[in-house]
Amino acid sequence: MTKWSPGSWRSKPIQQVPSYQDKAALAEVEARMATYPPLVFAGEARKLKKQLAAVAEGQGFLLQGGDCAESFAEHGADNIRDFFRVFLQMAVVLTFAGAQPVVKVGRIAGQFAKPRSSDMEEKDGVSLPSYRGDIINGIDFTESARSPDPARQEMAYRQSAATLNLLRAFAQGGYANLENAHKWMVGFISGSPQGERYSALADRITETMDFMRAIGISAESHPSLRETDFYTSHEALLLGYEEALTRIDSTTGEWYATSGHMIWIGDRTRQPDHAHVEYCRGVKNPLGLKCGPTLDPDTLLRLLDVLNPQNEPGRMTLIARFGAEKASEHLPKLVRAVAREGRKVVWSCDPMHGNTISLNGYKTRPFDRILSEVQTFFDVHHSEGTHPGGIHVEMTGKNVTECTGGARAISADDLSDRYHTHCDPRLNADQALELAFLVAELLKKDAATNPEKRAVAG
Ligand code: PEP
Ligand code: CO
Repeated sequence: MTKWSPGSWRSKPIQQVPSYQDKAALAEVEARMATYPPLVFAGEARKLKKQLAAVAEGQGFLLQGGDCAESFAEHGADNIRDFFRVFLQMAVVLTFAGAQPVVKVGRIAGQFAKPRSSDMEEKDGVSLPSYRGDIINGIDFTESARSPDPARQEMAYRQSAATLNLLRAFAQGGYANLENAHKWMVGFISGSPQGERYSALADRITETMDFMRAIGISAESHPSLRETDFYTSHEALLLGYEEALTRIDSTTGEWYATSGHMIWIGDRTRQPDHAHVEYCRGVKNPLGLKCGPTLDPDTLLRLLDVLNPQNEPGRMTLIARFGAEKASEHLPKLVRAVAREGRKVVWSCDPMHGNTISLNGYKTRPFDRILSEVQTFFDVHHSEGTHPGGIHVEMTGKNVTECTGGARAISADDLSDRYHTHCDPRLNADQALELAFLVAELLKKDAATNPEKRAVAG
């Protein structure tokens, strides 16, 4: 293998690159960003890797979720808070009802660049470059908005910093205290079936906390009750941006992506000899790899050789995204090959990206298909004797109408009511909680049949 450097991806073939008109301006932005402070520290990425290593060994569960694409327009405290609330609620459902330690990783504070199936978009006879995420161009269908602008990278960096700052405050500053479990309820779900189910669970947590306080264990004396580890992740798609934020960790002398704790390689950019794999192989962060229907077992093993030659547990999370109908055909082959070769990975299920359909002119995802892919994921791991290690979802804390179905049945006609996503349809808070309850049940069943999988760590 050739020598790696943060820029060695530049000599490889590459997919999904925007065509910037002003190359000098792009180089200037990248050079400036290379001098900016890192967003995350290597030590944090190592801590996450350690937690994921436990999941790879069958202890714990990875909850990864957030927007399909963050946007500049929706950068407000309320959005971040509502996302974080629902995310904490999901985590608490999985921890308490599923009896597993939960590793919390947001698709947030850096999730701005989007791969597209077509370079151009056509509307009424006009053809313009596709929207590639706010870090690259604007969503409006005008020539100026769609033209890639390097200055957007600095805006994305600063938005990521501000978002992460608030998330760190929430996670460490008392908001995530388990004594607040009732307060995480988002207003509009309080009367819904999921809201009531969550309330009942929060009552049990409060009761447990009261009992523990009575025997001398309180949030004041036990930081793990009042603080939580929350990590960030995004698709490492825009490699110039990633390169600018790649830094040597002074403790270990190793390279880290400092744009987020965990980065992943998308399903369209995972060619073993191409640029995205080249960049990711050289940084020490935990990595995700999207596994779609076109990935065969040999290529997957080759990718694991390149990305994780030492077979380090916690390094690789394989994110299966086949679609409800295809999962039972594709997943077992990959799971078997990985197990046969003794590769240590976290298997996670993205039940979103293989289940996108078009209804009334809207991109949507039927909730029953999402649940069905999750169910198949658990079934396959059960029959293979492997660990169903996590879920990866697109979700928001807002009351949007983007995915159909769920307990408050959103119909095709409802989609137009509150369809706000900048890219793919997300679960709303109700649907996200409903999914968490289902996964908690599946986890409990899985643990019941594998007693060694009972929770061991906080
Ligand atoms: C995504 O996660 O938003 C995405 C584009 O996924 P995939 O690469 O799996 O299609
Ligand atoms: Co998406």
